[in-house]
Amino acid sequence: MIHITTAGESHGPALTAILEGIPAGLPLQPEDLQPDLIRRQNGWLGGEPYRGASPRMQIERDRAQILAGVMDGKTTGAPIAILIENADHAKWKGRAVDAMTIPRPGHADFTAGLKYALEDLRPGLERASARETAARMAACFVCRKLLAALGISIGSYVIQIGTVKAGILDLPLAERLRRAEENSLRCPDSSAREKMQAEIDRAMTAGDTVGGIFEVAAIGVPPGLGGFATWEQRLGSRLGAALLGIPAVKGVEIGDGFALAAVPGTQAQDAFRRDGETLARASNHAGGIEAGISNGQPLILRAVMKPIATTISPQHSVDLAGGETTDTRYERSDFCTVPRAAVVAEGMVSYILAEAVQEKCGGDSIGELRERFERLPRGALGDFHLDPNPKVFW
Ligand SMILES: Cc1cc2nc3c(=O)[nH]c(=O)nc-3n(C[C@H](O)[C@H](O)[C@H](O)COP(=O)(O)O)c2cc1C
Repeated sequence: MIHITTAGESHGPALTAILEGIPAGLPLQPEDLQPDLIRRQNGWLGGEPYRGASPRMQIERDRAQILAGVMDGKTTGAPIAILIENADHAKWKGRAVDAMTIPRPGHADFTAGLKYALEDLRPGLERASARETAARMAACFVCRKLLAALGISIGSYVIQIGTVKAGILDLPLAERLRRAEENSLRCPDSSAREKMQAEIDRAMTAGDTVGGIFEVAAIGVPPGLGGFATWEQRLGSRLGAALLGIPAVKGVEIGDGFALAAVPGTQAQDAFRRDGETLARASNHAGGIEAGISNGQPLILRAVMKPIATTISPQHSVDLAGGETTDTRYERSDFCTVPRAAVVAEGMVSYILAEAVQEKCGGDSIGELRERFERLPRGALGDFHLDPNPKVFW
C-alpha cells in the first residue's frame, strides 16, 4: 500500500519523507519534483509569488534529494527516501531564541503545550508548521507522477480570497486549470485577480491575514476506485480526511457540496443518458464520486482555508509562564496561503488516488500496474454488461 511518513522541524536542518508502495520501474529524478515544489512555494511556476506569501519563501529554495528507492533513474519498488534541506536552519542554528510562552490563538502553541507538557511552546509550532508540507509534497508529487503515467492529471484553482469571489461558472474545467497556471494567485478569472490581490494587500496593511476557497480537480480517474463496504473505504471520506490534513483547512466539499441542501432531489443527481455506446452524464453534481466509489467523471473537491493565525496586529492571549494577560508576539508568517494550499491539496489528492489505484489494481512493477489499469471499465455500455434494449426492469 502507498504510504507517506515525514519527519523534520520547520527550522531543523532538513525535512525528510519516506514513501512506500510505489511500484518498480517508474522513471524518477529529483528534478521531476522541482516544478511542483516551486508551485508549492510560489503558487505557480511563472516567477515571483503573489504579495502576501511568507518572506520565508524568499529564503528557501526547495530542492528534493532522493536518497533511496531509485536506481538508474527508476524506482526500485523499495521505500523512497526524500530529503529537503532547510536553508533557514543556518540562520537559526546556535541562535539564542527566547522561550515562547504566549500562545497564538488558532495555532498549535496552546494545544501542543498542553499535550506535550511544554514550558517553551516552540517545539510544537516547529512541527505543526506547514513547512512540513514541503517534504510531504515531494512524496505526494511522486504519486502524481505515478498517476500521470496512467493518464490521470490533477490541478487546482482559487475561487475566493476573503470576500472576493471568482466568476468561473462558464469556464470548462480544463480552461480553469489552464488559466490557474498563468498567475500566482491561481485564479482563473482575470477580472477577480486584482481584487483578490487588493484584499490581501488590505489585510497586510491592517496587520491582518485573509483566507479563501480553492477547488481541486482530477481528470482521467477511472470508475471503481474506493468502496462502500466499510466507511473507511469511501473515496470521499479518504479525500476529505486528506484535505483536512492540510494545516488551516477547515472545510471540504465534494461536487456541489453544501449547495445541494437547497436543490430538489430530482435535480441534485447526475442523470444517466446514452451517448452511442457510452453511458454519459449531463452534469457532475456528485463531483465524480457515488457511494464512495469514483464514477468516471472528473473528481471535483472544494476546500476552505481559514485566515492565518499569526497576525502582526496583536491578539489577546495569556502568558503561560506567569499567567498575566498579554498580547501575542508576531512571528514571520504568510498573510495569505490559499494559492499555496491549493497546490498542497493537489498533492494530497494525488496521494489518495495513487493509493486507491494501487489498491484496485496492485502490481509490483509499473508495467504490471499499467496492464491491470488499462483493463478497468471506462464507461462503454459493454463494460456494464447492459442489454442495449432491456425488456425487464426491477
Ligand atoms: C502552505 C501553508 C502555509 C502556512 N503558513 C502559515 C504561516 O506562515 N503562519 C501561520 O500562522 N500559519 C500558517 N499556516 C497554517 C498553520 O500551519 C496552521 O494554522 C496551524 O498549524 C494550526 O492548525 P489548524 O489551523 O489546522 O488548526 C500555513 C498553512 C499552509 C497550508
